[in-house]
Amino acid sequence: MGPPRGCLVDQHWPWWPLLPLYPYGRRPTLVRELVPGQVWSFEQLQGIFYVAVPIRMTVLRLREGLMLYGPVAPTRELLAQLRQLEASYGPVITIVLATSSGLEHKLPLPALARVFPRAQVWVSPGQWSFPLRLPLRWLGFPAGRTQTLFEDGLPHGDQLLWDSLGPVDLGLGCFQDVSCLHKASGSLLVTDALVAIGPEPPELFDADPTPLLFHARDRGDEPLSDGAEQRRKGWQRLVLFASYFQPAFLEVLPLGQVWSQAFQPGLRNPRSYFGLYPFRWQAGWQEAFSALLADGQPKLQLAPVLERLVFPRHRDLLLAWLRRLSRLQGISQMVGAHYLAPMPCTGADFARLAAELEARPWAPSGGDWATLAAIDGRLLDWGLVPGSRPK
Ligand SMILES: [Fe+2]
Repeated sequence: MGPPRGCLVDQHWPWWPLLPLYPYGRRPTLVRELVPGQVWSFEQLQGIFYVAVPIRMTVLRLREGLMLYGPVAPTRELLAQLRQLEASYGPVITIVLATSSGLEHKLPLPALARVFPRAQVWVSPGQWSFPLRLPLRWLGFPAGRTQTLFEDGLPHGDQLLWDSLGPVDLGLGCFQDVSCLHKASGSLLVTDALVAIGPEPPELFDADPTPLLFHARDRGDEPLSDGAEQRRKGWQRLVLFASYFQPAFLEVLPLGQVWSQAFQPGLRNPRSYFGLYPFRWQAGWQEAFSALLADGQPKLQLAPVLERLVFPRHRDLLLAWLRRLSRLQGISQMVGAHYLAPMPCTGADFARLAAELEARPWAPSGGDWATLAAIDGRLLDWGLVPGSRPK
């Protein structure tokens, strides 16, 4: 097992220090054709401390050319693949940033837009920056060809159906996720709003499974070893990290114990973080992962982070959006910007999800949700998000 395949120069992403996420300056891209001749997925990895999940740009073929939804880092490798699609299906004519809050989707936009100077750029309303509120062109969005969805119109309305989840006021800024149904393929595109998680690690890890192997271990002094079982175990734990930050079955070890297991022979390298592994998984963690699936299969769902930190006091807004989607004709699959895609589904699945979310306790605070609930409580106490703690 070695570093990711492909040329180092071609996978280079020079702007990584703006949002220093794994795999930093090197971003291998996996391209998959989701609907022949119509929809393609361009996936990269991003994460913190080897908690890496796929981030996806979706490419749609429209009558006039190509539309890019959800920017990712435009490395040379990625652009070479995109140029091949342009040669077959026409130029990139539209680039869409459909989220107002997702920094990981926002940061690649200026560089991507510069590569396609003739493309129109559309962004979701309510773009914000912190700590200063800067005009769009100061954020690097190209002046003169950047328009705001809904406020300035909607692109390709004859081929696409647009809807919006939000805005939700988060205090410092707002959350908004603009979804888009590509009528020709039945693909519903969303950014962060909904996810579907598979039981097996995504193909994207095949080139370098290090993040999976890192989390498959039980102690910091265990060497990284490879195998299908380790990859699956690592993936499932990584999903729990990304979903709950600190799930209930995860114990964070005291520093002395972490230190005593570190720097063992074979682990004195940055790939293993020098054996520093401050976690211990307790029996039962597999059930927490299983709860994110439906009988072992992916299901349409709202990520726990969104439920507990974005929508804890806005369930009705979410339900109304899901019910609007359920009435759209012709949905056959969802393509989100993270995790598994395409997720086969129909309008009835969105209605079912809305009914499920309405029937169960909303934004719980116990068990796996405790860390997310504590963050929400802290933000409320500090007055950083509007609202107050429930009595
Ligand atoms: Fe995201």
